[in-house]
Amino acid sequence: MACAAEAILQVLSGPAGPPLFNSDSCFHKPISLPSPKYYATGERKSGFVYKPNLRSRKCTTIYPTHSLAESFSCKCQQAERVSGAAISENEINGVANASILDNFGVARELGHEKVRISSKLHTTSIDSIEDEAWDLLRASMVYYCGNPIGTIAANDPNDSSLLNYDQVFIRDFVPSGIAFLLKGEYDIVRTFILHTLQLQSWEKTMDCHSPGQGLMPASFKVRTIPLDGDDSATEDVLDPDFGEAAIGRVAPVDSGLWWIILLRAYGKCSGDLSVQERVDVQTGIKMILKLCLADGFDMFPTLLVTDGSCMIDRRMGIHGHPLEIQALFYSALLCAREMLAPEDGSADLITALNNRLVALSFHIREYYWIDMKKLNEIYRYKTEEYSYDAVNKFNIYPDQIPPWLVEWMPNKGGYLIGNLQPAHMDFRYFSLGNLWSIVGSLATTEQSHAILDLFEAKWAELVADMPMKICYPALGGEEWRIVTGSDPKNTPWSYHNGGSWPTLLWQLTVACIKMNRPGIAENAVKIAERRISRDKWPEYYDTKRARFIGKQARLFQTWSIAGYLVAKLLLSNPGAAHILVNVEDMELVNAFSCMLSANPRRKRSRKGLKQSYII
Ligand code: GLC
Repeated sequence: MACAAEAILQVLSGPAGPPLFNSDSCFHKPISLPSPKYYATGERKSGFVYKPNLRSRKCTTIYPTHSLAESFSCKCQQAERVSGAAISENEINGVANASILDNFGVARELGHEKVRISSKLHTTSIDSIEDEAWDLLRASMVYYCGNPIGTIAANDPNDSSLLNYDQVFIRDFVPSGIAFLLKGEYDIVRTFILHTLQLQSWEKTMDCHSPGQGLMPASFKVRTIPLDGDDSATEDVLDPDFGEAAIGRVAPVDSGLWWIILLRAYGKCSGDLSVQERVDVQTGIKMILKLCLADGFDMFPTLLVTDGSCMIDRRMGIHGHPLEIQALFYSALLCAREMLAPEDGSADLITALNNRLVALSFHIREYYWIDMKKLNEIYRYKTEEYSYDAVNKFNIYPDQIPPWLVEWMPNKGGYLIGNLQPAHMDFRYFSLGNLWSIVGSLATTEQSHAILDLFEAKWAELVADMPMKICYPALGGEEWRIVTGSDPKNTPWSYHNGGSWPTLLWQLTVACIKMNRPGIAENAVKIAERRISRDKWPEYYDTKRARFIGKQARLFQTWSIAGYLVAKLLLSNPGAAHILVNVEDMELVNAFSCMLSANPRRKRSRKGLKQSYII
């Protein structure tokens, strides 16, 4: 017990990471000041009220009069650039020439036109799927004040029902951002990071309720609106959606976590640490952390969230403590710890962060892990144990073990289950949560290999004709009716309910490279290459073997394109994966092994245990 307490203390008093604070002149530069005019009156029908925030959210654009290249200009001051990293005028003109910016700032029509024209003129040059993917990715760029700020979710010219697929989603932009970083194009990522940061601090109110200040939007749109009193001019405004307009009003818990992960990747890849060192960025990181680390009623160190708060943004029975959120949370905590400037004001936050890392890794590694051995243990669980020493702490009834799992679990391999609540284990396998647990070192090295072993053993189900299943298995029948609320989009083996999502290729690739097993990702990429371009880069595939393009899948879905590109870029340069990977922290390992020996599953008494965490 003393060992546990000691190890934890060591972790808590340890350094917050390398000192990143320096006197770089960029550090104190404020973001440009906007005119609050639009937002002061900008009330929306949805009931969300935007109040002016005295920081940059809009700029003014003069209507193009001659050619786009000549006249696309912006009156606003923009978030300042890193010297030397700015896009040259020619580059901007090059992009503007190749695209028509619609009134959402999206390079829409000519992006496809460009692909078509080039396919006629240079058939050989776009033979490669990769070239096509790059063209499409560039065509999906969204512009704000003339600069790329993100990528549109889907850029399907033949789809008239846009819903919100014409927006820049934070989570969807991550693979786009990584692709640009790996290509050495840093500015779009920097602009994205700084402008989404501005959106974070909006005062948001929905039906008289204000979510936490650190909340990042799920998505945003660039609107080009006429400038008051000047017919010849427009202004660009950013219009975020914090979930108040989203279908089901889901909270985008993952957005802030992805934002932190991307911020670190930007610094690592570009070498430009001035962004993460800025006061406003440091404040942004802390706001996200405070929101995630706030005390509540929770008994577990895992983040408690509502259904649909991540990539699966519809009701799918993942409310509570879904693995995907925990994996992103853990990775974001490690990334934030690396980037936070040590200063007196953040000591408590860093202590809380370290505290949480230890408890979270212990909790997930111990209670979410499942393999043949653990399954057999659960099968023989005693229930109704009222005591501190309970082995079956969450009172799981063995009958909960689903029949499919008894057959499905391979002798070699295992995975982290989807969710854990009192008397409830969600035994479904969720790909993103498992892959990101490998990437962020939330899973142990042994567990990480076992997850990949299972992935190989279950290739026919998880990859089949298109990598890869978002989760396994699908919910059907009565279970589907009850859990999804009879959702016609989430029918068995479709969309979030066991559909296959090509974007997951990039997370698979990072995980495989981290574990030095890139061959697995290579094989998955080869399968995708057989048809992804021919199928027009769908958002997802349907059926048990992913044989059909998803019934309601968007085509030219940007993160399918970017996910493929990131996988290719990383496979050709595996060393670059380090910008996303979190290496196992040895201090955490020590604390973890001490807590493990104090675990009642190992039949240790609670007496004398100075327990800092509920594990
Ligand atoms: C769907 C997905 C979500 C994604 C969005 C935009 O809603 O479920 O994860 O961010 O589309 O592509």
